[in-house]
Amino acid sequence: MSDTTLSVPVPEEVGKLYDQILKDEHTYEQFEKFNHQLHIGYWDDPTSDVPMREAVVRLTELMVERLRVDVEDRVLDLGCGIGGPATQIVRTTGARVVGVSISEEQVKLATRLATEAGVGDRATFQRADAMRLPFEDESFDAVMALESILHMPSREQVLSEARRVLRPGGRLVLTDFFERAPHTPGMHPAIEGFCRTAMTTMADVDDYVPMLHRVGLRVRELLDITEQTMERTWRETLEIVSQNDRPVDFDLAELFGVDEFGCLLVAADRP
Ligand SMILES: C[S@@+](CC[C@H](N)C(=O)[O-])C[C@H]1O[C@@H](n2cnc3c(N)ncnc32)[C@H](O)[C@@H]1O
Repeated sequence: MSDTTLSVPVPEEVGKLYDQILKDEHTYEQFEKFNHQLHIGYWDDPTSDVPMREAVVRLTELMVERLRVDVEDRVLDLGCGIGGPATQIVRTTGARVVGVSISEEQVKLATRLATEAGVGDRATFQRADAMRLPFEDESFDAVMALESILHMPSREQVLSEARRVLRPGGRLVLTDFFERAPHTPGMHPAIEGFCRTAMTTMADVDDYVPMLHRVGLRVRELLDITEQTMERTWRETLEIVSQNDRPVDFDLAELFGVDEFGCLLVAADRP
């Protein structure tokens, strides 16, 4: 089902939201519990006791496998957060990574953390809007968008930009949220609350493959990874943030048991 009620995210506002999060002094300690990766976790066995800090790394690992890059390659990380995934790419493949974020504060922190991690020469970061990338055509071997396209005003425009900057034969890997088997007409109130607070929209899953074709990308894989990711992420994240004893904008407990909220992993190639 496509989203008709949520407003389209405005990049400047999304940037301010992430800048604001970083101004909170408690946030930094929390980010360490997520290995500096700002996305959902992946549990191969959702009943295992693997902690969140390992599960977020596992999801990035699955993305990196699909990027198929090595030390010769240049990767664009679209919506790079504070650079945890970029550091992981450099360490595991040796590839060079350019990360872009709409949040200036994230770019500063990502740059500092990559330098401290000893990968500052291979991972660099800059502020840019994924809707209009400041890069030449065919200048990357691979593009990754890990849980970022859901904040952007037009998925099709971002995918078109990704295709433009990819060289022929280049790879795109992304995750996105979508509404999955709605039980009732209209969006579940908890999902709507999450999307409004986080400034996101939900993908139209039926249009994903046609949309990739329209921008000139060839689909390699489209996986529903909901069972391995969502419910457990809300539970683990709530436990971590509630140790803070601080008010939260959105109570993640509202998402417990809401199985209409799903995550897709998509891999595509530029022919
Ligand atoms: C949930 S975070 C994911 C961060 C990172 N991919 C990770 O997994 O750690 C979403 C990211 O998307 C970025 N973002 C959102 N809209 C953007 C836009 N229009 N252009 C560039 N980055 C954007 C945010 O600044 C943030 O870094």
